[in-house]
Amino acid sequence: MLPQWLIEKKRDGAALAPDEIREFIGGFTAGAIPDYQMAALAMAIFFRGMTPDETAALTDAMMRSGDVLDTSALAAPKIDKHSTGGIGDKISLVLAPLVACCGVAVPMISGRGLGITGGTLDKLEAIPGYRTNLATREFLDVVARLGCSIIGQTDRLAPADKKLYALRDVTGTVPSIPLITASIMSKKLAAGLDGLVLDVKCGRGAFMKERAAAAELARSMVRVGRAMGKKMCALLTAMDQPLGRTAGNALEIVETCEALQGRGPGDLMAVTLALGAKMLQLAGLANSCDTAQAMLSAHLKSGAAWRKWLEMVRLHGGDTATLENTARLPRAKIVEPLPAPQAGFVAQADAELIGKAGLLLGAGRTKTTDAVDHAVGVSGLAKIGERVEQGQPLALLHANDAALLAEARPLMLAAFRVTERAAPGPELILEEITS
Ligand code: URA
Repeated sequence: MLPQWLIEKKRDGAALAPDEIREFIGGFTAGAIPDYQMAALAMAIFFRGMTPDETAALTDAMMRSGDVLDTSALAAPKIDKHSTGGIGDKISLVLAPLVACCGVAVPMISGRGLGITGGTLDKLEAIPGYRTNLATREFLDVVARLGCSIIGQTDRLAPADKKLYALRDVTGTVPSIPLITASIMSKKLAAGLDGLVLDVKCGRGAFMKERAAAAELARSMVRVGRAMGKKMCALLTAMDQPLGRTAGNALEIVETCEALQGRGPGDLMAVTLALGAKMLQLAGLANSCDTAQAMLSAHLKSGAAWRKWLEMVRLHGGDTATLENTARLPRAKIVEPLPAPQAGFVAQADAELIGKAGLLLGAGRTKTTDAVDHAVGVSGLAKIGERVEQGQPLALLHANDAALLAEARPLMLAAFRVTERAAPGPELILEEITS
């Protein structure tokens, strides 16, 4: 079959057979099918969509385009969590050591931030010395010893996704549910998992702004994971305001350390415990959400989760002294408060605008090749529903460049709305998607 015949078939709305998809992705990965034909197929998929069987075949082909880790030597159930990304989302950093304390193996392969959403790897790299590029053997050794490790996608894991994502980024084909599903699931399932909990974010600071679209993506990923024999569940969670009180790499490491010592902000802990409970249930280690949450809380309280985090960072070459004394993490030269224009209650803390402000300050990147400034971002974020007095800081802005700070400040001001009447705190867990 010539590649153009498959492009035409999809363009005309027919379903591709699994072996056709496998052949196309194999050819693209090997360089035999050029980028322009892959881009044309991606655009045909964007307009015509894919059936669940096609999406599963695409995911499988992309997963098998590189190594699929053999985790059979790990006795513990291997369960991971994936978030579709948001602002201030440091859940993976808290969750991996916490869930590992309960006997789950968490071989977590994480990504970098792109655009306004932050990335777990960028946050980890704010810790001096932390290596996110462990070789497969070392990665699996750390998981075997400790129960968790967090690294980045290597060139050998789902290389078809790496190539295709770069093409989609410049051809207007990112927002397609089958392509997003295959992209996320191929990378995650290449880590040799038994199960996966999805945190599909929805709202102003999320990739999926509308709840219906977020639910559709969640259903698509759950369906594909199940078709590939994995235990799956998804939570739709709110991303209208940032999670926790910080956004920015080193600042989020500070908040992670606080959370793992039992001093995390309420919203961060609520979503972390909800996702962690699902991971324990998928692992078969708890038969109810309450039991699972009690197990997780006990490990936070005893200090076990904090010790596990320190040990994980140490085994990755990270300087744990910076975690025990977070003043030693990268710090911005300028820290400026954003005073509330009036007294009242916070009615809006727009995650998208706060994410854009962070991006302007240098906390994120607009191209995968950009460097990030680990020190900058925002902290002390006031949360929706909280009372503030006039002049009281709604946030602290951390900057290394006064000109960038001047650009970010109006966005931060526009992000907040303070009203006379108290608004209720937003719902955090919107829905569970099991099928
Ligand atoms: N994240 C991914 O890894 N892939 C997508 O397509 C979208 C978000």
